[in-house]
Amino acid sequence: MTAPDDLLAAARAARAHAHAPYSGFAVGAAVRGASGRVYAGCNVENAAYPQGLCAESVAIGACVASGETKIVEALVVADSVAPTTPCGACRQRLREFAADEAPIHAVDADGVVATYSLGSLLPHSFGPSHLPPSSRKSAT
Ligand code: THU
Repeated sequence: MTAPDDLLAAARAARAHAHAPYSGFAVGAAVRGASGRVYAGCNVENAAYPQGLCAESVAIGACVASGETKIVEALVVADSVAPTTPCGACRQRLREFAADEAPIHAVDADGVVATYSLGSLLPHSFGPSHLPPSSRKSAT
């Protein structure tokens, strides 16, 4: 299986900046917005451990901060023995902006790629469509 070159390159570049002094497990992630633009992130750990951020969270944040709220594809890369898939919390974070059909690529240390749909990683999920329209507020 192959991963999109642009997503993989962006995730690897971000991973080089991972702040992972506690776990030693550097992770890179990249998401593609509906525009085609790619946003990357790395994990950012904290001395107060629970305050650490996953690479996917950082990439999603960069995407939204750039004005994009639809994610069509994502990729995670780590030096893991098997492809690292997004943690449960990050699956839910992706769910906010991506459809069930969105491909999520996981790449390990040897470049082995596993691709899943978001819906297969987070089946029967809770998302924005479950809330009444009246509960959605605009930012302005
Ligand atoms: N981590 C990610 O950034 N993304 C994942 O998909 C899995 C785990 C980070 C969190 C923590 O900084 C380190 O990897 C070890 O769990």
